[in-house]
Amino acid sequence: MKIAVIPGDGIGLDVTAEAVKVIEAIGDRFGRRFELERLPYGADHYLETGVAMPPNGYRTLQKDFDAIFIGALGDPRIPDMRHARDILLGTRFELDLYVNYRPVKLLDARLCPLKGCCPTDVDFVVFRENTEGMYVGVGGRFKADTTNEVAIQEEINTYAGVHRIIKYAFEYASSAARRRLCMADKSNALQHGHALWQRVFQELAPQYPNVDASHLFIDALVMQLVKNPAQFEAIVTNNMFGDIITDLGAQLQGGLGMAASGNLHPGRTSMFEPVHGSAPKHAGKNVANPIGAILSAALMLDYLGLTSEAVAVEQAVAEVVRSGKGPVDIDGTLGTRETGDAIVSALRMPAAAG
Ligand code: NAD
Ligand code: IPM
Ligand code: MN
Repeated sequence: MKIAVIPGDGIGLDVTAEAVKVIEAIGDRFGRRFELERLPYGADHYLETGVAMPPNGYRTLQKDFDAIFIGALGDPRIPDMRHARDILLGTRFELDLYVNYRPVKLLDARLCPLKGCCPTDVDFVVFRENTEGMYVGVGGRFKADTTNEVAIQEEINTYAGVHRIIKYAFEYASSAARRRLCMADKSNALQHGHALWQRVFQELAPQYPNVDASHLFIDALVMQLVKNPAQFEAIVTNNMFGDIITDLGAQLQGGLGMAASGNLHPGRTSMFEPVHGSAPKHAGKNVANPIGAILSAALMLDYLGLTSEAVAVEQAVAEVVRSGKGPVDIDGTLGTRETGDAIVSALRMPAAAG
């Protein structure tokens, strides 16, 4: 299997090195060969060459690889994230990866900032629409950089786009153990765009009688996520809201370093990345938590049909986290590399119970 690896910027490089280590260890344990091709796209490459993504870059990613792994993008030298728009958002848009799948799963009670919360209370998935909404770049600036500036950023919601993400969420809910599906929008204020979310959700719900479909306005949803996360099993929402609530979800799991994601188009080459960014202040210091990246690699293995391999990674991560070992952001003492090593040894010698 051929995997494109784009470490990107900042801690993206640190955490990707550990995810690669884990993928290679999985290859050894299960007798599989993964062909990992490192691609240099990121801030340094962009500043050196002026090219964020080469011509044909997306086509190559789609045609020549079975999956794509990205570390993180973002560099203080490029404050408007031009390069990341091409590399990260470009990959999502050009490969039409319309499902941003972000599981939120607490592995150990000590990591949750909510009082008395245990792993069974925080275990849900978010389906974030990933190809439209506020992210389409439609808009412009008039009289830019003057005191009369007018800045317009449009939110695009299409029937086809809203329909396919909500349908995906319903299909998941009706076939998985998570039968409760909550759709979140802001249709009380955004009466055009979000009325479409309401319409499509109401259109699809009757087709899935075994799904417990509900709706919350996004502001109420974030309140409920903090008040009682146990009520949620699956959430579907738009691009921007999904971005925001999954940082909140990350913290429920112990922090941004713990959260994984898959950018999917069923049946096509898809992309996997931790939820966090490049955290420049931690870059290259062997302090970043690689677990979100490693769990993203597990999502990738699962997507590639390697279920036992994915489960083995998840079990190794859970074992390390529950033993109290791990990086400093989850109150451990290990560095990035040592955390990767601990997970690799848990993989090689799974605990008897695992
Ligand atoms: P960030 O996720 O990079 O970091 C926020 C804070 O969370 C960090 O300062 C750190 O304290 C903590 N953190 C994040 N990941 C961690 C990890 N693996 N281990 C330990 N602690 C971790 O968000 P930011 O500071 O808002 O953004 C920094 C840059 O990253 C910006 O350029 C932003 O645009 C970009 N960004 C990229 C992505 C992506 O590539 N998918 C996602 C979010 C932000
Ligand atoms: C994420 C990030 C990106 C997003 C940024 C870096 C454009 O925050 O993947 O969650 O908003 O999608
Ligand atoms: Mn984000």
